[in-house]
Amino acid sequence: MVSLEERLDAVSTFILAFIVLIGTLFGLKIAYVVSTALVLPTTQGALYVSTSRVRVLAFLDAVPMQEGQLLVDLGCGDGRVLRAARKRYGVRGLGYELNLLAYLKAQLLCLGSKGIEIRRRNFWTADLSEADTIFCYLFPDVMKKLSAKLKFDLKPGAVVVSCNFVLPGFNPDLVLRPGNSLDRDPIYVYQLEKSQT
Ligand SMILES: C[S@@+](CC[C@H](N)C(=O)[O-])C[C@H]1O[C@@H](n2cnc3c(N)ncnc32)[C@H](O)[C@@H]1O
Repeated sequence: MVSLEERLDAVSTFILAFIVLIGTLFGLKIAYVVSTALVLPTTQGALYVSTSRVRVLAFLDAVPMQEGQLLVDLGCGDGRVLRAARKRYGVRGLGYELNLLAYLKAQLLCLGSKGIEIRRRNFWTADLSEADTIFCYLFPDVMKKLSAKLKFDLKPGAVVVSCNFVLPGFNPDLVLRPGNSLDRDPIYVYQLEKSQT
């Protein structure tokens, strides 16, 4: 027979666990808001929101890559795109991420993934000339500036994949619309002209 004291013990343990859980969730929410707000002047509306699994798989199905090629994710979030591409094709992955929370999560989740590097750095100041494939999921306000940078930086034949937003001045070779009816935002795939020489 369970005594009243034991029951009270169980109830107080449950209440304590509940308070710890709510506190942790609240703390994470605060961390998200603060880490996002701190980088907003640079990220200009590209908040830390992850690409869904179905969209990452659609990208990988549509854009085959060679082992050892370099895939760069401009604003890599938790690094999920890089890990999935590494697993499928054996590519090298390089992610730029300014949001501290996303960066720490990416570092943690990529601990076991050799061949993936995550840099807490602004990609606007990075040289992207070595990239074979660029992945991005950013924000309309920055796409014109990104087009100019990619035209300047990328080598002939490089592939650019942009979730949701077009790259002004580029013609997409493919437009994917994966997912169910609630999540059918486009994914644009562009290939830069290959060199004639
Ligand atoms: C919509 S999320 C996409 C995350 C990830 N690429 C994915 O698809 O799951 C965009 C990310 O880009 C990052 N970001 C935006 N501008 C950046 C910049 N100039 N340098 C580095 N990271 C940036 C943001 O912090 C944010 O986490």
